[in-house]
Amino acid sequence: MIISTGINELDKMIDGGLRTSYCYAIKGTAGAGKTVLSLFITHGALQKDIPVLFISTEVESDKIVEYGKSFGMDLQSFIKSGQLSVEKMTLKPQGVNLVQTERFDLSGIIARTKAKLQKINAKLVIFDSITAFFAEFQYEKTARSNFMDFIREITNEDTVLIFTAESQVAEEYATLEEFLVDGVIKIRTELKNNQLIKKISVPKLRSAQPTHFENRFIIDKKGVTIFRSEHPPISLIEEEKTGIGRLDELLGGGIPTGSVILIEVDGETNYFPLFLTSMYHHLSENKGVIIHSNVHMYSSKIVEEFKRSKSDITSHLNEGNVVFIDKYNRSVTAVEAREMSQLMTTDDMISVTVELMEAFAQAKQKVVLFGDLTDDANILSESDFLRYFALQSFNIKERRAIAYSFINFNAISREILARLRTTADIIIRFSRVEYNHYIECLKSSTGATFLPKIVKFNDTVPLIEIIG
Ligand SMILES: Nc1ncnc2c1ncn2[C@@H]1O[C@H](COP(=O)(O)OP(=O)(O)OP(=O)(O)O)[C@@H](O)[C@H]1O
Ligand SMILES: [Mg+2]
Repeated sequence: MIISTGINELDKMIDGGLRTSYCYAIKGTAGAGKTVLSLFITHGALQKDIPVLFISTEVESDKIVEYGKSFGMDLQSFIKSGQLSVEKMTLKPQGVNLVQTERFDLSGIIARTKAKLQKINAKLVIFDSITAFFAEFQYEKTARSNFMDFIREITNEDTVLIFTAESQVAEEYATLEEFLVDGVIKIRTELKNNQLIKKISVPKLRSAQPTHFENRFIIDKKGVTIFRSEHPPISLIEEEKTGIGRLDELLGGGIPTGSVILIEVDGETNYFPLFLTSMYHHLSENKGVIIHSNVHMYSSKIVEEFKRSKSDITSHLNEGNVVFIDKYNRSVTAVEAREMSQLMTTDDMISVTVELMEAFAQAKQKVVLFGDLTDDANILSESDFLRYFALQSFNIKERRAIAYSFINFNAISREILARLRTTADIIIRFSRVEYNHYIECLKSSTGATFLPKIVKFNDTVPLIEIIG
């Protein structure tokens, strides 16, 4: 069964609504709106005659009813009719200081929750919040197994469990509770132009593709309203085109010069159509193209691929508009690459690139750099790799060039991906879901983001176009 959250846009973000037997976490910074969102989900379910158990660990149950009243909800009447149960639960009785022991667990909480749940036959259980409980565990391992028990015991075929948890302002990585649940709804408050802006995203979802992008939302008397933002808030001053049909338009006119574009691809998606189309476009504008070759992206293959698409880049090659910084110049295995990478260090790569950039600048040509980072990410040590990417990005920005950096996001760690994302100005995700390929924009310097759009492939340039 699917239970609506009562918030239309949120239902869409979580693939139609809350699924029974699933457990969701609402994560948010302090005051972001975890309790308010939980209240609206509660109220939405009650109006559809779905019994709800609301457990509050922070405030007394009458305060929760009061809170609902401030939004015009009459929770008291649902309590009277036996459709709603609001309970306050704490781990330790008032005034008692629990000594941390190995045997400390959640079994008491689980038993109490189950009893309350059965009493009203609740289909939706909300636990606001679990943060205090987590803090009681000394070891992550014990916390994990206890919460797994909790989730297993409370969720069954026809219930949904939602718990809220506090997140830190700059939380880059998923925390323990996120690994345990089927879906994560993240909310946060951001200060922009002296205004508090609330944002909501769904970084994890088991039933469907998660929506990493953030939507703005507001809380007012009428409830929680989510705005889907697909349009760029600012237009560009100095822009370049990618040459990919509709992408520039979606990005707000193009990409600003000095941009580092991170293109995240899954292992199954061939990014060459995107890469070649963009490269062809930049060459047609007489730009200087530098290619950092690697196992996947090397000179003979690129020339071959252009031939196959019946596009001729010979004149650009002859005029020296395309320069390959070839470590390998042929297809090599990862093992060979590891050995050969010692031939040219990252410092060599950077200094050669800078020399080339200067030469192009003297010829009054703008520079575009292409490279596949995946192997470097695996061959180099994490710190060397991140230093390399940071230095290269610095050069791109400093010299008003453009870099397209491709990375297989399945082949690198979350931590590295998070660091790359911080440095990149634009993040494009290019991936396959069943038989379709999708492109989406997760971040851009214009503030533009867009939802996954289907891409179409052609035999000749442009090899890729966005449709839908
Ligand atoms: N009656 C109301 N009308 C409009 N907005 C409200 C109302 N009550 C609360 N809010 C908004 O909701 C926000 C607080 O929401 P909420 O209490 O759900 O936060 P929370 O994430 O649960 O915080 P905490 O970490 O303290 O538990 C406030 O910052 C305010 O913007
Ligand atoms: Mg709260």
